[in-house]
Amino acid sequence: MDLDYLFTRTSGLETDRLFFRALTAEDADDYFLLASDPKVTTHTIWPRHERLSDTHTYLKRVEEQNVLRHSYHWGIVLKSSGRLIGRIGIINVDGDHEKAELGYALASEFWGQGFITEAGRRVVSFLFTEVGVHRLEARCSEHNPGSYRVMEKLGMTFEGLLREQLRIQGYFVNQRMYAMLQSDYNNASYR
Ligand SMILES: CC(C)(COP(=O)(O)OP(=O)(O)OC[C@H]1O[C@@H](n2cnc3c(N)ncnc32)[C@H](O)[C@@H]1OP(=O)(O)O)[C@@H](O)C(=O)NCCC(=O)NCCS
Repeated sequence: MDLDYLFTRTSGLETDRLFFRALTAEDADDYFLLASDPKVTTHTIWPRHERLSDTHTYLKRVEEQNVLRHSYHWGIVLKSSGRLIGRIGIINVDGDHEKAELGYALASEFWGQGFITEAGRRVVSFLFTEVGVHRLEARCSEHNPGSYRVMEKLGMTFEGLLREQLRIQGYFVNQRMYAMLQSDYNNASYR
């Protein structure tokens, strides 16, 4: 797994409808629109952004984590309008064990049009073919079928239920664990 490549060659990724670029402090207004939407945060591990200052704090952390090489987040931009409509990225980047964990969120008005599956396939391909990740993980609440359906469409395998792994809005919930190995990616239909 080539961490130098991962953290320096992230620009220029695109798909038919989308392009990806680093998420920065300048995205605060657009990002706040999705992060403050209760529909988006119903099942997320992170709480809803109540004020624009929450988004500023989050985006500052994103940049710090990028510098520390702990995580990387792309902003997802719609080519047709130039608007930032979501984010996709990896956290828990682990060079020793050559693995990382995928996460994503999309503004609710764009749900159900295949955008995150499209974005995810491009990022998965980048990670396995260019960066050399060995194992890519993804997790979500068991009450979030939209999210785990995306994991399935990316070719990830359900590995089990992490019992009461998260406390979301005051309730402990089970989390579904998915992962994809380099060998799984080699068999993926979309590669
Ligand atoms: C999860 C999320 C990223 C999906 O984005 P999206 O662009 O709408 O996803 P796609 O359109 O690529 O695919 C969604 C798939 O889930 C399915 N789906 C969506 N909601 C569903 C539901 N309630 N029950 C069953 N399937 C559902 C869709 O039908 C589609 O599958 P299909 O193509 O086989 O029909 C988006 O809903 C979101 O941002 N949610 C809030 C944030 C979040 O939960 N992030 C993940 C945290 S782990």
